[in-house]
Amino acid sequence: MSRSAHPAGPRHADVLTEGHYAAPPADLNVLDEKVWARTVSRNDDGAVTVGGIEVTRLAEEFGTPAYFLDESDFRARCRAWADAFGPGADVFYAGKAFLSRAVVRWLKEEGLNLDVCSGGELTTALDAGMPAERIAFHGNNKTVAEIEWAVQVGVGRIVLDSFQEIVRVSHIAQRLGKRQRVQIRVTVGVEAHTHEFIATAHEDQKFGIALAGGQAAEAVRRALRLDGIELIGIHSHIGSQIFDMAGFEVSARRVVQLLAEVRDEHGVELPEIDLGGGLGIAYTSDDDPRDPHEIAKALGDIVTRECEAAGLATPRISVEPGRAIVGPTAFTLYEVGTIKHLEGLRTYVSVDGGMSDNIRTALYDAEYSVALVSRRSDAEPMLVRVVGKHCESGDIVVKDAFLPSDLAPGDLIAVPATGAYCRSMASNYNHALRPPVVAVRDGEARVIVRRETEEDLLRLDVG
Ligand code: LLP
Repeated sequence: MSRSAHPAGPRHADVLTEGHYAAPPADLNVLDEKVWARTVSRNDDGAVTVGGIEVTRLAEEFGTPAYFLDESDFRARCRAWADAFGPGADVFYAGKAFLSRAVVRWLKEEGLNLDVCSGGELTTALDAGMPAERIAFHGNNKTVAEIEWAVQVGVGRIVLDSFQEIVRVSHIAQRLGKRQRVQIRVTVGVEAHTHEFIATAHEDQKFGIALAGGQAAEAVRRALRLDGIELIGIHSHIGSQIFDMAGFEVSARRVVQLLAEVRDEHGVELPEIDLGGGLGIAYTSDDDPRDPHEIAKALGDIVTRECEAAGLATPRISVEPGRAIVGPTAFTLYEVGTIKHLEGLRTYVSVDGGMSDNIRTALYDAEYSVALVSRRSDAEPMLVRVVGKHCESGDIVVKDAFLPSDLAPGDLIAVPATGAYCRSMASNYNHALRPPVVAVRDGEARVIVRRETEEDLLRLDVG
């Protein structure tokens, strides 16, 4: 649709580019359920509610900026993944997306396992009572101390990421009188269609061991010879925010080929494969994420078919969704501060957070949407850039979006789909205080990660 078809359209048509920015939505008050947590809606007074509570009340009680996480949506998504994969497979939530003790308890209650990639994540998991055998430990450079601890507590698996680590983990386990279950992470050579920094299955990067050139087969050869480890399977994670199942299918096919080679060479059928995480979510109305059932069926079918063709028993499949579970369940609530109209250029709406609570726009050119949530407005749409309060012009929260042109300081706006990789990648840049995470459920809201305070900052600064 051409821009001129919108007489009530944006103020600064010259900065428009393409896609969903080219035209404002018909009604800015309507919340697209694709990008908002399930219990979010707008009530008759015009205010947005989550879990039955108005955001205006939440802002009064918890302040802004703050992340509000829809607990029932989180739990429902856990159940959907567990149901889709069924009892014959395992779902590991990727804790790097967002981890807290409450989250660990929800995962435990909903029957999910947990993927951790640092001693800090392992601490959180164990402290909140996740049984060690339901934990997978990842990372391309686990420290000796981390490995020792993971082995000692008996994590269900360590995912080995290099030739050196194969030997390192085996030695440590032997020293501790244990035999550690491990998988080997391979890079399958798939170019996932996503941002370069979050693609992980091409060969020129730091993760895993390449299938190409027989490297992964050599890794298996070495692992099978060592006494401190028990090789239970092969792992592949191709990247993040991926919508196209083709990359996963190629990955599954290549991993099964490796299982067949291992069987032929060693007479051993490895019982498990892990196909990683990386399933995309809707950040804007243009994104169309896959349903977990569709994903489970596609992966299950391809693995079964390839195994049948290779004469292998179908291995137990596991997956590691992080973003697809937590991403859509939260939004960030901000208060609007300064609004600057740069004539002929752009309108900047500044909020009380920014790149310290959401680095993804600056780092990956990520796209988000935004809505006025403290009231309804029927004013005409204006194209804006939502920016933070940090001393950097790259401090952008939402690059281009439409908000009502009567937007004013003190209004509350919210950015949906910030559950994954926002709080977990938050920083103290400019000594910003990292926002709280508030879980909302059935009319009740409770802080699960509290807001940082000036005392927290000063406590670490020992003078
Ligand atoms: N498994 C492994 C081995 C991983 O490395 C990752 C993500 C996941 C699972 C979960 O991926 P997910 O389903 O959440 O996409 N900070 C970036 C994403 C980095 C992901 C790193 N690994 C972002 O904000 O997009």
